[in-house]
Amino acid sequence: MKKNIAIISSALMMLSTAAFAQKAEGLGATPQMGWSTWNKFGCNIEEGILRETADKMVELGLVDAGYVYLNIDDCWHGQRDSLGFIHEDLGKFPSGMKAMADYVHERGMKLGIYSDAGSKTCACFAGSQGHEYQDAFVYAQWGIDYLKYDWCYTEDVNPKSAYRVMRDALAATGRPIFFSMCEWGHSKPWEWAADIAHSWRTTGDIWPYFETIPEEFNGQWHGEPVLTLVDINEPLRAYAGPGHWNDPDMLEVGNGNLTEAENRAHFTLWCMMAAPLILGNDLTTMTQETLDIILNKDVIAIDQDPLGVQGLRLRRDGDVEYWFKPLEGGDWAFCAFNRGKEDVTVTLDWDSFKFTDEVSGCTFDPQGCKVRNLWDAKEKVRKIQKVKNLKIASHDVVLYRISR
Ligand code: GLA
Repeated sequence: MKKNIAIISSALMMLSTAAFAQKAEGLGATPQMGWSTWNKFGCNIEEGILRETADKMVELGLVDAGYVYLNIDDCWHGQRDSLGFIHEDLGKFPSGMKAMADYVHERGMKLGIYSDAGSKTCACFAGSQGHEYQDAFVYAQWGIDYLKYDWCYTEDVNPKSAYRVMRDALAATGRPIFFSMCEWGHSKPWEWAADIAHSWRTTGDIWPYFETIPEEFNGQWHGEPVLTLVDINEPLRAYAGPGHWNDPDMLEVGNGNLTEAENRAHFTLWCMMAAPLILGNDLTTMTQETLDIILNKDVIAIDQDPLGVQGLRLRRDGDVEYWFKPLEGGDWAFCAFNRGKEDVTVTLDWDSFKFTDEVSGCTFDPQGCKVRNLWDAKEKVRKIQKVKNLKIASHDVVLYRISR
């Protein structure tokens, strides 16, 4: 009882500071990186998988590469108690959520959790509606560092108010908690959420298919293939920047039947779009090819570049798209992506790409530059040639870093 009274009075104190709340500063200077339970494990989660994944992330060098968040998505919830405080499902997390947080913190990582602005989460567990301050308080007590806040069961809820309330509730805890909005882009959060969240979903859910969802899913709810999300997210580039990122959903690299080329293209396009890099595959069983993709530090550096500009699709010639991303210090990332079903050889006339990016004000001028192939370390760094023939396999990319 004493404990509950202490909790309630702390919660009330938080309420009184909420009027001055703002989102946690200093988080999300570059897009967030980590791993989430959802894409591979869905609701089949328990603390063993999380501990194993955390260990793997350290052992494989993923944490050193920047993947620091271990995010528990939907389905961790137990019940609310008689005072309305949420508890973890002790069947799935017998050691408790606080112990989970301690475990990941000891490994230099951070723990993320999931809730929903409505009455229920998408998997029908308790939502935070009407319990925002209590929930934020419980998360902070557990040592949570990241909240993904979903949008199911929100029929009469105003998105701006709902996300502001949770932002303020998180701020009132005094703990820096990364705030990841997940309202699927329905009310154009990129237009109003820069001071509310560190990232917002721009799209519906990703599924591990590259171009189309198989017909067998017609007529039932399904997620979207990788390329659909790219096409929705690319035009929103002007809204992204340090502290507030467009989020075309978590990675499916290593999931489903994506080929090695498709995994590489998916990862590359996320990096070109300065998207959050939240892995979603089983790290304990992945192939070496998948590991090599997600651990390529030169490619990660494109995503994490401090200039924080989301790249653009400058041109499309037939099936081949040419993407550019300005980087700190005058460098550029260049990606040629073959969307087609056939391998192609294209002729690049570098001068034809000269342009000034309206969003960043940066000018691409190939004159006197050198190029480094980021997916083929064996290829020598060389001076840019005026014209270059480039082979690009179906659904694959060629990625260069171009510098003076
Ligand atoms: C929604 C979200 C997904 C995932 C599920 C969990 O569909 O968009 O990313 O969090 O809910 O139920």
